[in-house]
This record gives sequence, structure tokens and C-alpha cells, in this order.
Amino acid sequence: MTQARLLQKPGLPLLQLEGITKQFPGVLALDHVDLDFRCGEMHALAGENGAGKSTIIRILAGIYAPDSGRMLFNGAPYEPQTPRDAIDVGIRVVHQEFNLLPALSIGENILFEYLPRHRLGMVNRRRLREEAAALMARVGLQYLSPDTPVERLGVAEMQLVEIARALSTKGRILILDEPTATLTPREADVLFEQIDVLKALGMTIIFVSHHLDEIFAHCDRVSVLRNGRHVITENTADTDAATLVRHMIGRQLAAQEPVAPMQPGREALRVEHLRPRGSANPEGVGFTLHYGEILGLGGLVGAGRTEILRAIFGADPIEGGEIFLDGKKIAIRSPRDAVKNGICLLTENRKEEGLVLPMAARVNVTLARLNNVARGGILHREAERQASVDMAKSLAIRLSGPEQPVVQLSGGNQQKVVLAKWLFGGQARILMLDEPTRGIDVGAKAEIYALLGELARQGCAILVVSSEIPELMRLCDRIKVLSRGVIAGTLEREEFNEEAILSLAYSQFMTHAETSP
Ligand SMILES: Nc1ncnc2c1ncn2[C@@H]1O[C@H](COP(=O)(O)OP(=O)(O)OP(=O)(O)O)[C@@H](O)[C@H]1O
Ligand SMILES: [Mg+2]
Repeated sequence: MTQARLLQKPGLPLLQLEGITKQFPGVLALDHVDLDFRCGEMHALAGENGAGKSTIIRILAGIYAPDSGRMLFNGAPYEPQTPRDAIDVGIRVVHQEFNLLPALSIGENILFEYLPRHRLGMVNRRRLREEAAALMARVGLQYLSPDTPVERLGVAEMQLVEIARALSTKGRILILDEPTATLTPREADVLFEQIDVLKALGMTIIFVSHHLDEIFAHCDRVSVLRNGRHVITENTADTDAATLVRHMIGRQLAAQEPVAPMQPGREALRVEHLRPRGSANPEGVGFTLHYGEILGLGGLVGAGRTEILRAIFGADPIEGGEIFLDGKKIAIRSPRDAVKNGICLLTENRKEEGLVLPMAARVNVTLARLNNVARGGILHREAERQASVDMAKSLAIRLSGPEQPVVQLSGGNQQKVVLAKWLFGGQARILMLDEPTRGIDVGAKAEIYALLGELARQGCAILVVSSEIPELMRLCDRIKVLSRGVIAGTLEREEFNEEAILSLAYSQFMTHAETSP
């Protein structure tokens, strides 16, 4: 297909899907989907975890072929056989899961397919750096060197590198599959500014997000999928969040009640002068977590919240400080020590740390608590199977059966498996969660909140890191806000409000700006 003489009229259909169907073993992922994406619009795809959003995107991107139905690009049949074919017509995709090469530099990752070369074929390092730096600036990463290896980046930064890579060549359609799931609101704003620029240049944007506020703030139209079916397409100006949710889950969502108030019990975990690896704060942090309590850690990405959890979990060596469990000082040198002490961590990067992707859901769910399913040292397959079936039910995980490899699950359902893994058996006395509902749909979020509330009522001590302020306000009894490795303030439930939390999150940046020359 050539790119010559494309129709450019805004509002005309650019990409059309007609009766697209895709069957996976045991799952009808897409069922006769009709959709059209118009020139120059920003079009949201919404729907619960496993509704089929990423499958549509993979079909558009030439990764999967549909079983039946057809696609039109600019009025002509579009049948991509490989991702290359999609790139050739100008489709750029930022996938839900990272596709970066961790050992390579940011610059090499961004320009991977188009490394600038000297005449003799050697990579032109200087141009590589320049071109990469320009693209990095477009996504707000100008503070990093293009030479930095990707493996040193945080999740949000990796996401921005993926986006910079998608921008490295000119395209007509940019598809973003949950680009903001890993970003803080401030980082997301940087991204939306960039998207606005692309839109003004006439680019068509397809945008997947579980954040309905983003859809209403930025998209022209929204299409809802449910169980692989196209339910409705609306102008965002003509609909509202409650209506969308009803289309997504097929019922009304219960009111957003705070998780029931609790009476925290005795002290579970106390840290004093804890200095995680790379901490910007020589004093370290200190706080106390009680049984039956949900304590939140808020703040911007990079504030040091993840590092605190990792330090307590023994995942990184600490630079100083003490940890007390039940009032007794303990040494946690490895995650194994932590788990032995009943301390669990649900990490923010499910792909790297949470799951064994090629293995069955059954195995992943029971991984952390093998003694629960083992009798006399022998693993009981049946017990394991039953446990994963129960967990899948209580978390509404969409899977064809306990033997399905996790790699085949939708992104949000993978996240639920990670959660199931730590909740399984309910033996975690201290449960730490890092961005627990990233990529999880509205209905399942409510279920997870309820589950955490129930665990706390049963006496579990819960420490949760989240960049979503409404999530912290709904879940927590108390919120501690970190800013540059410093606990800038603590709010009790009566004092919760978004502005107060945000201004604490920025507080160390303010004082820094005022005192720096
Ligand atoms: N390669 C595969 N093999 C088997 N089943 C698959 C495969 N890819 C996707 N599925 C299934 O197809 C369904 C739709 O998945 P998809 O990834 O499109 O959902 P999604 O709407 O993107 O969800 P999420 O919001 O969680 O990302 C799910 O039930 C998923 O398990
Ligand atoms: Mg998806």
C-alpha cells in the first residue's frame, strides 16, 4: 500500500473495522466488531479488563490476523501481515507492555530501527545522541542523558521512552494502549500536551485508558467494548462517566464509599531513620504501621516511595536505619527473610517482578505460599487448582481456566493475578502494595478496595503506595506524603483533600527552588 495521495479531510473515516472477529483457545476476544476512526480525531477505547481493547490494537498493528471481518485504511482494504506493514501505512503503536531492551541506552532504544549511521555504516553516536535528545525533550525526559541504560529507569520513564520511540518516525495514526497507567498526573499532563501538538498536526490518535476523566478531558469520541463486543460509540460531549461505566460493566456501579473506618490495633511495623538505596534524605524516614490499618504513601514519582517498600522487603540493601516487627528489631536481608516474617510486597512492575509469565495462572497464584498447598512437602496440584479457581472468582479474573499461561491474559488481569498471589492463603501479616490498581478497570478496582478493607478488618497491616490521590483517600486511614525522600506531612482521614496532598508532595521542591541560587 502506498502512502501517496491520502485523503486528509478531517472527520472522514481513516481506518475502519468491519465485523472483526478473533478467537483464542477458550476465549472469543473479539466478536464482530465494527468501528471507525476518523481523520484527526482522538478516539478512546474503553472497557473492562479483558474486553478486547489490546486485541484490537494488535490486529491494527499487524501482530494478530483477525479470523474474519475486514479492515479499510483510507477506503482501501488493509490487511497487514506483519508489524512492518502497519508502520508502512503510518500506524505507530505504544503497546501496553514494555518492549524495550533493558541493556541498551535510551537513545538506542528510541532509534532502534533507524540508527543514524556514518557513510561507512558505523553508528553515528553524535547524531544518535542529538536526535534521541530531541525526542526525549518532546516527552519531558530532557533531564536524562540519551546514554543512560534503560534498565536504570523507573517504570514511568520507560513508558515515556516507548512514546518517544513511537514519535521517532512520522506517522498518521498514533495508538496508545494505557500510556498513562504508569504515569503520575503531572507526567500524564506532559504526555497530553505532546498529544495535543500531534493532533494539531492532523494526527489521528487512538487512546486506551481506564481513567475516564482523561477520556472526557482529551478525546473527541469514545467506543466501549464489553466481552469482545462493540457496545457503543459516542461523542464525549454527549455522554458522561456514569453512562460509560454502565456500558462497560453492564450494570450500575455501587457508590464510591470509603473503605470502612477501622480501629487500628497494636504496632506491626516501625521503621526509624530508614535510608533506602539512593535516598536523597540523610535523616532517613520513620513511621509506624499498625495491625488493622491501611496506611498510604503518597507523593510524586521519584519521591522515594517504591524505594521504601523495597528496602523493607529486603529487595535492595539499605544505607541505614532500623526496622522493628512487633516491637522487635529485625534484619531483613532478602525478600525470603521478609516473606518468612509475613511481609509481602506487590511490586509496581508486574512483568519484571511479579509473575512467571509462561506458567499457568494456577502456579503463579500459589507461588508465594507453596506451603499452603503442599502437604508433607508434596505439592498438591488439586489444592493449587482449587485455590486459583477461588481467587480468580473473588477477584473476577478473566481466564479460560487455571491452566492458562499468564502471558495470554489481558494486562489488567495479569495485575489481578499478582494480587491474587499475595492474597492467596491470607497469611500476609504485613502487606505492602505498590500502585495496586494500575491498569485495573473501574469495576475490579472497587472489588480490590473491598478486599483490602476486608483484609485490614481481619487484622492485616497494609501499606500502600499510589499516585492516584482519590485511591489513597478512599482506601487509607492515614496518608503520609513523601517529597524528595522526606515525609512532608501526615494526614488523618478527616483532613484528606487533594490539594493538601499535592502541596505536600511538592513541598520539598518549593523549598529547594527558594533556597537554590
Ligand atoms: N495470545 C492470547 N492467547 C489467548 N488468549 C488471549 C491472548 N491474547 C488475549 N487473550 C484473551 O483475549 C481477551 C481480551 O484480551 P485483551 O488483552 O484484548 O483485553 P483488554 O481489553 O486489553 O484488557 P486490559 O484492560 O486488561 O488490558 C482476554 O480474555 C485475554 O485473556
Ligand atoms: Mg489491554
